Amino acid sequence: MTPGDEDAETLLRLAVDAASEAGALLASWRGEARPEVIDTKSSPTDVVTEMDRRSEAVITERIRKTRPGDTVLGEEGGQTAGTAVPDGTGTGDRSAPARVRWVVDPLDGTVNYLYGLPDWAVSIAAEVDGVVVAGVVEVPRFGETFTAVAGQGAWLHRGGTAIALRCTLGVALGRALVGTGFGYDSGRRQVQGEIIAQLLPQVRDIRRGGSAAVDLCSVAAGRMDAFFERGLNYWDYAAGGLIAREAGAVVGGLGGQLESTSMAVAAGPELYRQLDNFLSRLNPERDAPRSQQ
Ligand code: IPD
Ligand code: CA
Ligand code: CA
Repeated sequence: MTPGDEDAETLLRLAVDAASEAGALLASWRGEARPEVIDTKSSPTDVVTEMDRRSEAVITERIRKTRPGDTVLGEEGGQTAGTAVPDGTGTGDRSAPARVRWVVDPLDGTVNYLYGLPDWAVSIAAEVDGVVVAGVVEVPRFGETFTAVAGQGAWLHRGGTAIALRCTLGVALGRALVGTGFGYDSGRRQVQGEIIAQLLPQVRDIRRGGSAAVDLCSVAAGRMDAFFERGLNYWDYAAGGLIAREAGAVVGGLGGQLESTSMAVAAGPELYRQLDNFLSRLNPERDAPRSQQ
């Protein structure tokens, strides 16, 4: 692979290799003793373990070794530019910004991981010129790797076989299994709880899996009909969003907005419309004024 090669399938291969190495590292902890919480981020419940950082280090190193010029945006390390690489013209180093940026959640579902629950993942997306073109969500405890390349569908790789993914279609809201998640800030959670209290009586059931990346792949695989969450970070949904979209889901925000840190929704087209209408009436993109920690 040459540093200037922006082919999406080539980028996916590197993402899969990096996710697999990081996933194996994370899975090597078997839960005899909990990994230590070494830091907190947005709130005391938003924890970081040594394993989050080690996983990101493995991924960044792997990317840097193969593509030193690319930018990496990682949850733990923030955004780092690559080193300047020769531009191939022999006239000196490249001065333009890198076209490829990697968006990395080295461990999505840290709280599940900490408690020995299986729903956690490594999520890596590759952007070219600001557009996600490839993504992988590696779920080690289930031996599952979800992948997508823009325009080429979404796939589940398990035990040496690859299965094409399709989200569920034509499910009415009243029959829908809907996944969601909660932020770490208590004021945000208060509103999220109010929204769920309104939604729960109207749907088949609600799931809170604990990893947004896995949730989006569950929509892609038809294991859940819909997912929505307020307050995700880009690295939570960059790869899973592409996988869900490539499996036929609509991925976006409410009222025609794009998915964002304010709100991300994924579902088959009809259900997406119903959920959008239902949620929009409840004004869910707000937080309670005071957060009590
Ligand atoms: C979290 C998970 C969780 C979601 C939170 C995320 P982390 O990511 O995706 O399911 O509800 O909003 O922050 O902290 O485990 O990487
Ligand atoms: Ca995350
Ligand atoms: Ca994380």
